[in-house]
Amino acid sequence: MLVTLKQIIGMAEEGGYCVPAFNVYNIETVMGVISAAEEAKAPVIIQVYPRLINEEVGYYIAPVVLAAAKKASVPVCFHLDHGATEAEVQRILYWGATGIMFDGSVHSFSDNVSATKRIVDICNYINVGVEGEIGHVGSANDDVIEEFTDPTEAAEFVKQTGVCCLAVLIGNAHGHYKKTPRLDIERIKAIREATGGIPLVLHGGTGIPDDQVKAAIKAGVRKMNIGTDVCCSFASGVLETLNDPDRSLAVDIFMKKPIESVKAMALNKINLVGAAGKA
Ligand code: 13P
Repeated sequence: MLVTLKQIIGMAEEGGYCVPAFNVYNIETVMGVISAAEEAKAPVIIQVYPRLINEEVGYYIAPVVLAAAKKASVPVCFHLDHGATEAEVQRILYWGATGIMFDGSVHSFSDNVSATKRIVDICNYINVGVEGEIGHVGSANDDVIEEFTDPTEAAEFVKQTGVCCLAVLIGNAHGHYKKTPRLDIERIKAIREATGGIPLVLHGGTGIPDDQVKAAIKAGVRKMNIGTDVCCSFASGVLETLNDPDRSLAVDIFMKKPIESVKAMALNKINLVGAAGKA
């Protein structure tokens, strides 16, 4: 069933677990994630990057995500990841999204607050929750790591914007980590305390050791984003099929392994974050 970001994060907050948020790119990645969520009886967030909010891909992928969510027996939220402009937000709302991330973290604090607040006001009209970001989560390839999220600044940001969950920088990054990350668990606790318990979002979920993911959830992370692992699992399914001399080139049959591979990865993450059986 299709649910909103507020509903799905609210369930996680109440149950003390974390909802996995998978970035999807095509119908097969959607199918793999939904199949895993159904099997594990888990709520999931399906999200898309802004570069997919276009007529070329988004026009097709948005109805696919919506159809999958509505057909599913488990709660599914359709979410925009890293929205950077009001136009992107409006377009994906028009296409049926039930959750929005607005990422103003590259701007100054006051510009981030005012831009995010405006998106929250727009989304409030249709009861869609907004995820904000304070402390810029960069790429694992960046040479310079930005300053980690300051708990006092986070509290002020939450108060002034009214976001329903908050992405933070606590030693995480997008993409394949060059060396094992070390999350600042004490900082997660401090941000939770300073903000009065805002549900926190962990970006860069690919490659964080399991024990750290579990500690982060215990400290207050309620949504974890997984993007690179979706791509890698899909690609490994494609390669395995290509190397199979008996493979069929009929595209639907060719895609069976990539879908299975995404499903196996998603099942693993669902179990890791404690979402299995929570639907
Ligand atoms: P990874 O690609 O590192 O899993 O991060 C995904 C993400 O945080 C999307 O916002």
